[in-house]
Amino acid sequence: MPAYYLLLCLHILGACVWVGGHLVLAVRILPRALREKKAALIREFERAYERIGMPALVLQVLTGFALAHRILGGSPATWLGETGAARVVQAKLVFLALTVALALHAKLRVIPRLRDDNLPVMGAHIIGVTVLAVLFTVAGASLRLGGYPLFAP
Ligand code: HEM
Repeated sequence: MPAYYLLLCLHILGACVWVGGHLVLAVRILPRALREKKAALIREFERAYERIGMPALVLQVLTGFALAHRILGGSPATWLGETGAARVVQAKLVFLALTVALALHAKLRVIPRLRDDNLPVMGAHIIGVTVLAVLFTVAGASLRLGGYPLFAP
C-alpha cells in the first residue's frame, strides 16, 4: 500500500473522529445540558470521548505534518511562502494553536470548576473548538486544489 494513501486515510479517519465528535457535542449534548442546566451531561460525554478524541488530534497533527512535508518539502522558505498550499498549511497551524489553547484552558481551568450554573463558559469553549474543527476540514479539502478556492494564489 503506498505510504501516501495510508497517511491520507489515517488523516481523514482522525478528522472524522475529531470533527464528528465535536459536532455531536455542540449540536446535541450542549443544547440539552444548557436547557436542563446539567453539567453532568457534558462531563459524561467528555469522559467517554477523551480516550478517542485526544489520540485522534495527535494523529491529525502527525499525519498532517507528514502530508504537508510531502507538498511543501523541507525548506522553511516554502512553508513560510505565499503559494496557495503554503497559505492553507499556515492557516491550519493557526487553527491548531487556537485549538490547543482552548482545549488546555477548558481542561485545566473550566472543567475542574464546571457546575450546573456556569455551563455557558464551557459552551463557548465547545463552540470555539467545533468551529475550528470545521475550518480545519474546509481548509484541508482545499489543499487538493492547490489552496484554491480558500486562498487563490
Ligand atoms: C483536527 C485537525 C484536522 C482536521 C479535521 C483535518 C482535516 C483534513 C481534511 C478533511 C483533509 C482533506 C483530505 C482530502 O483531500 O481528501 C485534510 C488534508 C490535509 N491536511 Fe488536515 N486536518 C487537520 C489537521 C491538520 C494539520 C495540523 C496539518 C499540518 C499542518 C494538516 C495538513 C493537511 C494537509 C497537508 C492536507 C492535504 C493532503 C493531500 O491532499 O495530500 N492537517 N485535512
